[in-house]
Amino acid sequence: MNSQFVHSVVEDGVSQITIDRQDKLNALNKQVIAELENAFQAAKQSQKVRCIVLTGAGQKAFVAGADIVELRSLDKEGVRQTVKQGHELMNLVENLGKPVIAAVNGFALGGGCELALACHLRIASGNAQLGLPEIHLGLMPGYGGTQRLSRLIGHGRALEMILGGKPVSAEKALQLGLVNALTEPEELAGAAAKHAATLARSAPCAMKSILKAVNEGGNLALTDGLDLEATLFEGLFDTDDMREGTAAFLEKRKPAFKGG
Ligand code: COA
Repeated sequence: MNSQFVHSVVEDGVSQITIDRQDKLNALNKQVIAELENAFQAAKQSQKVRCIVLTGAGQKAFVAGADIVELRSLDKEGVRQTVKQGHELMNLVENLGKPVIAAVNGFALGGGCELALACHLRIASGNAQLGLPEIHLGLMPGYGGTQRLSRLIGHGRALEMILGGKPVSAEKALQLGLVNALTEPEELAGAAAKHAATLARSAPCAMKSILKAVNEGGNLALTDGLDLEATLFEGLFDTDDMREGTAAFLEKRKPAFKGG
């Protein structure tokens, strides 16, 4: 499939995925979502890719939400399909098995905020605004926002943001734990690339297990989560990466992980 709105470049183990629909502030229509799915599937399957950075093109927006024009045209069946398509994309990102960093370079509203929430880490530029303003459209978040935001920052704070519909500044998002770090706008790409490069040198099997333990464990009772952790921990003892990491420590050198 030709990609009109989503561009991917792979370099040194990092896939940089950019949503480029700038005249509509990178809003998510069906085509953008389908192209994102393709880009993330390719990143998942590629042996070369160990980490992903997702961002929006331009200085103004990461993603300003689901495409409101397209939403208005949907019938009931269309709405169901759109929500399903959105959930599938967010679940794909969350369960990719490789770390995904959202470089939030401006407005991350509605579906844009939900997409950032599905990523594992979020770095925001100082001009970013994050929020779930669907209530102002007589709607509610439909791409996972009611679930992921409350799991990330707690029910009270999530309800304040979702019921109020008012976006928060990048600084406030940092205070809330909604983003992991803040940069000057011109330093965002470099900061995300640096973080991604560090992750791309890290042990792929261990990262995959950590993501699984934290993502799936969050939905389990503590005893079941601990069982999952134990199983995954045990699984890592069968990997070359574990043998390489521990040998490198003892030999006082940097490890070279191959992902096996
Ligand atoms: N869906 C479709 N088009 C969108 C969009 C969205 N979610 N967000 C922005 N756009 C379009 C605008 O309609 C405009 O298109 P036009 O030039 O053809 O009129 C273009 O992107 C630029 O947006 P504009 O509103 O002119 O920019 P702004 O700087 O004045 O305001 C925002 C920026 C983000 C505050 C404003 O665009 C906005 O509120 N967007 C909707 C956010 C939202 O409710 N998201 C949740 C959707 S479920």
